[in-house]
Amino acid sequence: MDDRKFSVLIAGGGSTYTPGIVMTLLESQKQFPIRKLKFYDNDAARQKKIADAIAILMKERAPEVEFLATTDPETAFSDVDFVMAQIRVGKYAMRSVDEKIPLKHGVVGQETTGPGGIAYGLRSIPGVIELVDYMEQYSPNAWMLNYSNPAAIVAEATRRLRPNSRIINICDMPIAIMDRMAKIVGLPGRNDLVFRYYGLNHFGWWTDVRDKTGRDLMPQLKAYVAKNGYWLQDQEPGKEASWISTYKKAADVYALDPTTLPNTYLKYYLYPKYVVEHADPNYTRTDEVEAGREKTVFGECARVVANGTAKDIQFQASNHSTYIVDLCTAIAYDTKQRLLAIIPNEGAVANIDPEAMVEVPCLFGANGPERLSMGNAATFQKGLITEQNCVEKLVVDAYEQHSYIKLWEAMSLCKIVPDAQVAKDILDEMIVANKDFWPELK
Ligand code: NAD
Ligand code: LMR
Repeated sequence: MDDRKFSVLIAGGGSTYTPGIVMTLLESQKQFPIRKLKFYDNDAARQKKIADAIAILMKERAPEVEFLATTDPETAFSDVDFVMAQIRVGKYAMRSVDEKIPLKHGVVGQETTGPGGIAYGLRSIPGVIELVDYMEQYSPNAWMLNYSNPAAIVAEATRRLRPNSRIINICDMPIAIMDRMAKIVGLPGRNDLVFRYYGLNHFGWWTDVRDKTGRDLMPQLKAYVAKNGYWLQDQEPGKEASWISTYKKAADVYALDPTTLPNTYLKYYLYPKYVVEHADPNYTRTDEVEAGREKTVFGECARVVANGTAKDIQFQASNHSTYIVDLCTAIAYDTKQRLLAIIPNEGAVANIDPEAMVEVPCLFGANGPERLSMGNAATFQKGLITEQNCVEKLVVDAYEQHSYIKLWEAMSLCKIVPDAQVAKDILDEMIVANKDFWPELK
């Protein structure tokens, strides 16, 4: 009988996503039993606000599971089977800067896209590498599921700088879209779909979506997306305005290639003019997150702590957290479930650089992911992917070589930046804003 129970560390314990993950872990005890849950963060005060509420929850719902929150790497990373990494280096204050500087220059300002994503990438690389090193030092057999953004740049950095590490870079955007696809065709959820998908992170396309009997769902999905994008209309009351707009805009992204279904993030690359025209440079996504998700999560934690009970706690499992627990389950029990991950291409997309970090379906088991072959990228996709992948590689070159020129090239090559002078103006402002985080560029 397999009576193993696992020890899980959430790195970035102060993240707004932490309570949702804890709820999923508690609800998944049959599927993925845990014996220990730890939080690690380098901001003790922020983490404590979440940890104090979760300590009450754990005591009430799973007293047999040991729980602790720490800022000490050795305490955090020792005796761990899975690390769930979700750090935001520079926090929301720097995300806000990433969004607002480009917008001042008429360029898309976004967390993972364009100059904002590049700036965030340079901050995230050392933060995530530090976590990998702690894991290798204190729990060398553990796996890290990393979804700290910008996942594409972080993945390229870990491929190059820690090639043998047990880190799997993942993203919940295609997962959220597949849950929407399931709703559109009337199936319970994304795990009822069999799909083919390829691209880079936040930069990919579905080429095939079927149900488990092999029925082709693409015609029904395409007809829906052509009209509504991935917006579920009256099924999503209370959804934030920016997300409704993103889901709707997928209709225009789809129109460019009616043979596939797109990732929503492609709107930033294919319709940057529209995005900038509809942005408010004084109130960006960070402001929306701070006024929305962050306030709600920390408010709910404070309420639980004040009441001294988590009986009526309002946190819920989400597609984000269930995906992470699905991945842990697949690795722990060698299920060979077909799940998306960002991994070295090595032929998975035949006509794309074998060294690109691509996002493709993999069979997940005890040895990690086994990539599935997605064939050739079509010409349109090949062109877009090749350019964007070179941007991501140049960012990691700039990080490794402390090179101003490489970073300027990355920003100039980026599809949403109109010319090299604009790229330089943005870059020079970003260097000043990121002086506490970036390597000094020569
Ligand atoms: P958040 O700011 O609420 O939480 C991040 C936490 O990381 C903070 O508590 C912060 O103190 C901590 N932190 C920062 N640098 C650290 C370091 N070097 N070591 C340890 N802890 C550190 O952020 P959030 O909005 O909850 O997002 C968390 C992360 O998850 C971000 O990187 C975000 O982009 C990412 N994310 C990824 C996906 C995906 O699917 N790939 C989806 C959503 C969010
Ligand atoms: C976030 O949730 O903050 C991001 O990772 C994606 C978004 O909502 O902008």
